[in-house]
Amino acid sequence: MENKKISNIKNICCIGAGYVGGPTMAVLAANNPNIKVNVVDTNKTKLDLWNSENLDELPIYEPGLSDLIHKNRGRNLFFTSNISDCIKEADMIFISVNTPTKIKGLGAGYASDLKWVESSARQVAEFANGHTIVVEKSTLPVRTAQTIKSILQAYEEKGDFQGDKKSFSILSNPEFLAEGTAINDLQNPDRVLIGGEDDNAIKLLEKIYLNWVDRNKILTTDLWSSELSKIVSNAFLAQRISSINSISALCELTEANINNVSHAVGMDNRIGKKFLSAGPGFGGSCFKKDISNLIYICKHYGLEDVADYWESVISINDWQKKRISKIIVEKLYGNLSDKKISIFGFSFKPNTNDTRESPAISICKDLLEEGCLISIYDPRVTEEQICLELGDNKQVSSEKNKSNAKWTKNEDLYECTLNSDAILLLTDWEDFYNMNLKKLIKNMRIPSWIFDTRNVINHKEAKSVGFNMWKLGNG
Ligand code: NAD
Ligand code: UGA
Repeated sequence: MENKKISNIKNICCIGAGYVGGPTMAVLAANNPNIKVNVVDTNKTKLDLWNSENLDELPIYEPGLSDLIHKNRGRNLFFTSNISDCIKEADMIFISVNTPTKIKGLGAGYASDLKWVESSARQVAEFANGHTIVVEKSTLPVRTAQTIKSILQAYEEKGDFQGDKKSFSILSNPEFLAEGTAINDLQNPDRVLIGGEDDNAIKLLEKIYLNWVDRNKILTTDLWSSELSKIVSNAFLAQRISSINSISALCELTEANINNVSHAVGMDNRIGKKFLSAGPGFGGSCFKKDISNLIYICKHYGLEDVADYWESVISINDWQKKRISKIIVEKLYGNLSDKKISIFGFSFKPNTNDTRESPAISICKDLLEEGCLISIYDPRVTEEQICLELGDNKQVSSEKNKSNAKWTKNEDLYECTLNSDAILLLTDWEDFYNMNLKKLIKNMRIPSWIFDTRNVINHKEAKSVGFNMWKLGNG
């Protein structure tokens, strides 16, 4: 690839207006008023929502996002389906498309499906003009830049639409934002990682970040280390959660308290206190996908033992979800038919409307399989989204339980518990910290249970108003 020089970035195109592309470009545009940022997507419905006058309709809920969109959209930030023109105009292109786990074919269940990355690379290759810097923002298996490079190189010879030669530089710039805190994470990142071989391209991307990020937080590496570091960061975070969740079960059997254990362990500076909250298992679109990908790569290179080690992080996560469903059935006398369970929280974590891999999905499915009715309260997840996760017509698929197994979505927390036998708290939304427990129990059948998987509810208070209480990790 040629190492041509661009002196200044004036126009950016981001392919993919999802959970990463939208917020990332909103923050980038806000901090670089002189750069025009076009966010493109193939999904027109999503783009309409990004362009909606009513900021409550944005396709993603993130604290602080609507304010940023309000201030920057139409100024130097645009959401559009005009992919070819935006690529043509751009000096720098971010690829922020989805990279889910393959569901069929070679590597199914483990390898990342690079279909969307490849189609983005082909679009870039076809429409780019002159020299273009291509930035991998999506999380990609180590050495994917090589695939992108070979696609782009094949088009370099063809020339651009004016007949001039086109050329490309490739950078890896993985994103570390967490949902629910995306804007703050983007505005104040722990680090910005840039991997690449072209010093000029690295400097230009660095310059963009320097408008709001300290130089000492910007780390430059080779391409492959950058790609791998992203996946390893997620694997380490997930591993901490599986570690603490495994101990939560031991606490329940030994009368220890998981909060006290987490606190004591986390006070060791070498361990640190973050990511030690036990819960119903990690969810979100990335942890499982990225560890699966790590396992796939390890196996590819013959590192079976390393692959097994990381596989166990996923196994513990699945085990934790199953364990919770089982405890509920056992506590409710081994029978859920004709019972009602109120689910508090359906998103995989608070402050997001994202339900991808939410532990609520598999736990609700297990409970529905047992034949109970489920009523769900979540402040941000829509009924349509729950329908996509739990199935149509509010009916569970199993023939066996079809007659009485169904779910409803409630807009009111207190109405949600009407005639319920139990509350199952799965997401630690702020709304759940100061609930009126007396008011909640008044609507419920007796004996009334709370199953708290996030250690949110005050045990003593719940008992004093008459609840039977099970708290994750408490003996
Ligand atoms: P997403 O599904 O929310 O968004 C991806 C978008 O790309 C979709 O809107 C899709 O329509 C669009 N798209 C796909 N192919 C396209 C094409 N050829 N042209 C135009 N648009 C196209 O995904 P996401 O959550 O934003 O994740 C994107 C990447 O970022 C993934 O690799 C993910 O692992 C990584 N990541 C995600 C997060 C997160 O919190 N969600 C954080 C860090 C990194
Ligand atoms: C995670 C990483 O934190 C981000 O750095 C990364 O960029 C992102 O994945 C990604 O690549 O997609 P995210 O999945 O949005 O971010 O949210 P997290 O805060 O990491 O939470 C993931 C899951 O772990 C949630 O279900 C959460 O409830 C659970 N969790 C988290 C716990 O159970 N305990 C904890 O102590 C922390």
